Amino acid sequence: MGSSSSWITSLFLFLLSTISWVTSFSIDENFFQCLQNYSQNSIPISHAFYSPQNSSYSAILQSSIQNLRFLSSTTPKPQFIITPFNESHVQAAVICSRQHGFQIRVRSGGHDYEGLSYVSDVPFIIVDMFNLRSVDVNVDNQTAWVQSGATIGEFYYRIAEKSRNLGFPASVCHTVGVGGLFSGGGHGFLTRKYGLASDNIIDARIIDVNGRILNRESMGEDLFWAIRGAGAAGFGIILSWKIKLVPVPDIVTVFNVNKTIEEGASKLVYQWQYIADKLYEDLFIRIFISTDNANRTINAEFQSMYLGGVDKLLQLMEQSFPELGLQQKDCIQMSGIESVIYFSHLPNDEGLEVLLQRNQPKTFYKIKSDYVKEPISEIVLEGIWERFQKVDIPVMTLTPFGGKMKEISEHETPYPHRVGNIYEIQYKVFSRTEDGATEKRINWIKELYSYMTPYVSKSPRAAYVNYRDLDLGTNKNGHTNHSEAEVWGHKYFKSNFERLVQVKTKVDPTNFFTHEQSIPPLSLFEK
Ligand SMILES: Cc1cc2nc3c(=O)[nH]c(=O)nc-3n(C[C@H](O)[C@H](O)[C@H](O)COP(=O)(O)OP(=O)(O)OC[C@H]3O[C@@H](n4cnc5c(N)ncnc54)[C@H](O)[C@@H]3O)c2cc1C
Ligand SMILES: *[C@@H]1O[C@H](CO)[C@@H](O)[C@H](O)[C@H]1NC(C)=O
Ligand SMILES: *[C@@H]1O[C@H](CO)[C@@H](O)[C@H](O)[C@H]1NC(C)=O
Ligand SMILES: *[C@@H]1O[C@H](CO)[C@@H](O)[C@H](O)[C@H]1NC(C)=O
Ligand SMILES: *[C@@H]1O[C@H](CO)[C@@H](O)[C@H](O)[C@H]1NC(C)=O
Ligand SMILES: *[C@@H]1O[C@H](CO)[C@@H](O)[C@H](O)[C@H]1NC(C)=O
Ligand SMILES: *[C@@H]1O[C@H](CO)[C@@H](O)[C@H](O)[C@H]1NC(C)=O
Ligand SMILES: *[C@@H]1O[C@H](CO)[C@@H](O)[C@H](O)[C@H]1NC(C)=O
Repeated sequence: MGSSSSWITSLFLFLLSTISWVTSFSIDENFFQCLQNYSQNSIPISHAFYSPQNSSYSAILQSSIQNLRFLSSTTPKPQFIITPFNESHVQAAVICSRQHGFQIRVRSGGHDYEGLSYVSDVPFIIVDMFNLRSVDVNVDNQTAWVQSGATIGEFYYRIAEKSRNLGFPASVCHTVGVGGLFSGGGHGFLTRKYGLASDNIIDARIIDVNGRILNRESMGEDLFWAIRGAGAAGFGIILSWKIKLVPVPDIVTVFNVNKTIEEGASKLVYQWQYIADKLYEDLFIRIFISTDNANRTINAEFQSMYLGGVDKLLQLMEQSFPELGLQQKDCIQMSGIESVIYFSHLPNDEGLEVLLQRNQPKTFYKIKSDYVKEPISEIVLEGIWERFQKVDIPVMTLTPFGGKMKEISEHETPYPHRVGNIYEIQYKVFSRTEDGATEKRINWIKELYSYMTPYVSKSPRAAYVNYRDLDLGTNKNGHTNHSEAEVWGHKYFKSNFERLVQVKTKVDPTNFFTHEQSIPPLSLFEK
């Protein structure tokens, strides 16, 4: 009896598994057929379609994942990955995902700090834009069209190919994707002079929830406003941006000056807060604070770029920040494009082509951000240094604003952190290996964040959406807790949040484009 009943059970289980295999297979086939029906292109969509059965599925999935916390066997995986070769492939992905009830996660550079471009708790597909990365630079009119799958390094490279006197104000790190970076802000060494990447966008092509391709004129100014600072993933899929290029002189001067505690780092960081946002806007000095691995000495690295030659820079530094003691030997003159290589710590003897590499070392990390409106005292800084002793690889980057950033109104784009902010802080803790101490590190950064509460922006305590932090609150199960969404919404966007909810309600009322911190439509707020 026992053996025959277990035989029946086995047969039953076998049939069941066959049925579910057939079912999933047929969903597969239908979905794939739908994609074929809706894509028109010389390259068939089969070349852009990966299911877990394809041998390269894992390699494609892992390719641009930056944060190893989201590359484990327990991280939810997409049903399919689509790597469009043509805009019509993206349209097909939107139309067919809606028909088949898949959520879409869109990925450009894969640098999202919380993995939102490639992880979801519900059945989802990834649309990975890396094949759509052409760059078309118009030197005469100082504009460019760039497809969203390009990295910022590739974009800088293509601009430099056409002209060494044109550039773009965006990120420091060359592997960040322009799809995510430009839609959430994007700052770097040119920001004090020219504003954010998103401040320099003049047109865009986006695919809406109905699979239509819209440009600035056809999407209207409300949606065009929203995608320049709020992150675009809640509104549609960005295909390409048209941007205004900015002038860069023949020669820029850079320096990286290290100061340890023994060399007076605390006092210098303190003093920097009084000049960082007030400097002549051609001069940018940020601070990168870390500990030496061996003895945990605090090191403050003053990283700077000046849009001009060394003589003028030395004069300016003597006037505004003599305490740093900058000397000619600390400075290097180079072209604007070479400065990207310098600050990305790339080899400087391999040509500009290193900027085309899409990979960089992956680590396990957690990041949080703050904005500072009043200088922080030396005693409080020393409290940070003490905390830096308690964990292996802590880092803090202080990015100064002022200049152009204070001339742009808080409502001009969704990015509101403008006048009144001296600098932004990025706190980061990371590990190169999985050592079981991730939770300890996350608790450490939360404690540091809590320690900083009295000394940073308040009501709201602001945060940068491109430094995504799910601790600030999330949309859950497709529903939105109004009070929670208002909390993270106001931290990222201040009073622009309400207008963003209106735009979302108009363009995507059923919330097809969604993730844990996408702007919710009004209908989804819990009463
Ligand atoms: C090493 C490193 C260095 C960084 N340096 C800087 C810096 O110097 N300055 C700065 O401002 N920021 C910096 N960042 C933060 C960076 O701006 C954000 O992580 C940004 O969102 C990354 O864009 P991505 O396309 O690479 O990321 P992804 O993970 O691909 O996307 C990020 C978000 O944008 C959405 N998205 C991506 N592409 C599209 C698209 N085509 N259409 C609609 N939505 C899309 C994704 O769904 C996701 O929600 C850095 C990040 C890292 C990891
Ligand atoms: C694809 O198009 C064909 C021909 O128009 C149609 O018969 C079929 O139902 C479509 N399949 C899907 C999955 O859309
Ligand atoms: C992409 O598709 C469009 C039609 O949507 C077509 O005109 C174009 O030639 C295609 N591009 C490539 C590279 O096949
Ligand atoms: C993945 O497998 C499917 C089914 O075998 C095939 O049609 C498709 O071309 C494969 N994808 C790639 C990119 O080779
Ligand atoms: C530059 O812009 C002008 C005005 O919009 C236009 O007429 C001209 O064709 C453009 N030049 C190039 C090279 O695209
Ligand atoms: C400054 O410190 C950094 C570590 O933050 C190190 O990588 C770099 O080599 C140092 N630079 C100089 C000039 O000593
Ligand atoms: C710590 O190590 C760094 C480099 O390894 C060195 O420059 C510094 O002097 C050391 N500090 C102390 C206090 O030993
Ligand atoms: C919404 O979130 C707030 C703050 O986190 C919480 O106090 C409240 O109970 C939540 N409401 C619902 C309906 O979940």
